[in-house]
Amino acid sequence: MMKYRLPEIGDKDILQKYVKEHHDNGEAGVSASVGLAATEYSEWVEKIRRNAAGGDEQWGRSLLYLCFDEDRLVGLLSIRYELPEDLSLKLGDIGYGVRPSERGKGYATEMLRYALAVCKEKGRQEVILGCYKDNPASAATIKKNGGVLINESNGYNEGRISQYYRIMLDS
Ligand SMILES: CC(C)(COP(=O)(O)OP(=O)(O)OC[C@H]1O[C@@H](n2cnc3c(N)ncnc32)[C@H](O)[C@@H]1OP(=O)(O)O)[C@@H](O)C(=O)NCCC(=O)NCCS
Repeated sequence: MMKYRLPEIGDKDILQKYVKEHHDNGEAGVSASVGLAATEYSEWVEKIRRNAAGGDEQWGRSLLYLCFDEDRLVGLLSIRYELPEDLSLKLGDIGYGVRPSERGKGYATEMLRYALAVCKEKGRQEVILGCYKDNPASAATIKKNGGVLINESNGYNEGRISQYYRIMLDS
């Protein structure tokens, strides 16, 4: 059974280990971490809490969930359910990452399914997801959740093609 919740001050250690595991795996960035590695920890927690409660003028409210299987932090899930359409089409409404040692076990598929339920509950009728064309694992995660390719562009990050998928939530 997966559990999802906002980060707390007491999560500092498990999040540091989560980031370190990415670095040890040769990955510079940590997906869906909303600047975790570059921000002082308590400020980061405050920022995440603020985003959830009141949001940001440009982004609206958004959720950053720690995703646990039993007591193990397996992934991060960013749900930007109030993004205005222009940003949604550029950044996507949902982002996620799974720690290297837990990939290939179905977690991302499950996490995205949960994010879609949250977006639906928030009143969204569809969401947009973006992923790089050279990221087959993420594309597979999106397609398994009903994603349909709607656009391809290299405008967001020069030299790397992004693909955009739409998932309809009404049913
Ligand atoms: C992308 C990512 C989140 C997938 O997480 P995951 O938990 O391993 O994904 P799942 O186990 O749910 O697998 C989803 C699908 O991807 C496929 N997949 C997994 N790894 C794959 C790989 N290396 N190459 C191709 N397909 C892959 C799986 O087979 C599965 O599809 P299937 O059931 O049809 O076989 C994970 O690899 C990750 O964190 N990568 C780095 C961060 C990132 O890219 N985030 C997304 C940004 S858009």
